[in-house]
Amino acid sequence: MQTKKNLVLIGFMGTGKTTVGRILAARLDLVFTDMDDCIVQRAGKSIPAIFADDGEPAFRTLERQVVVDLSAQSGLVIATGGGVVLNPDNIRDLGRNGLLAGLTASPDVILDRLRHDTGRPLLNDGDKAEKIRALLVSRQHLYNAIPFRINTDGLSCEAVAARITEQYELQRD
Ligand code: S3P
Repeated sequence: MQTKKNLVLIGFMGTGKTTVGRILAARLDLVFTDMDDCIVQRAGKSIPAIFADDGEPAFRTLERQVVVDLSAQSGLVIATGGGVVLNPDNIRDLGRNGLLAGLTASPDVILDRLRHDTGRPLLNDGDKAEKIRALLVSRQHLYNAIPFRINTDGLSCEAVAARITEQYELQRD
């Protein structure tokens, strides 16, 4: 049996990586994997608890380990965490055996989607709208470096998944 290339969803928090990823896995007969879930499993505690107890650098180390592990596998849809782009090694490794698909959304749409969320420590202290804008600005160039990107504003998750499916099928070896 031919091995299937991974499909790697990259984008800021609230761009729909997890929801779109589940749809894609079902459509393409791939295995859905959420990097944040893998990190929680490894650490034995929640993402907010990792940030609070051990700090962001410890979280990024765990994230890196999960990237190395998942990049060695195939047939996965990988919903990455929004900060995976911060380490260029992550993008290099994930891209070796996977189609990278960037999901984008405007700050207002992201705020709308995450308004009541409490599970994202980077957005939790201070003004959420301000945090989203500042983080987006600081990471924009990293998200823009993914060649295949979809702006999800106003699109259903099914529509986003349909566009990514087309691209994945085009690039299938
Ligand atoms: C983060 C995004 C989160 C999670 C952590 C840090 C980030 O994942 O990994 O809170 O740095 O953007 P989601 O993008 O799935 O929310």
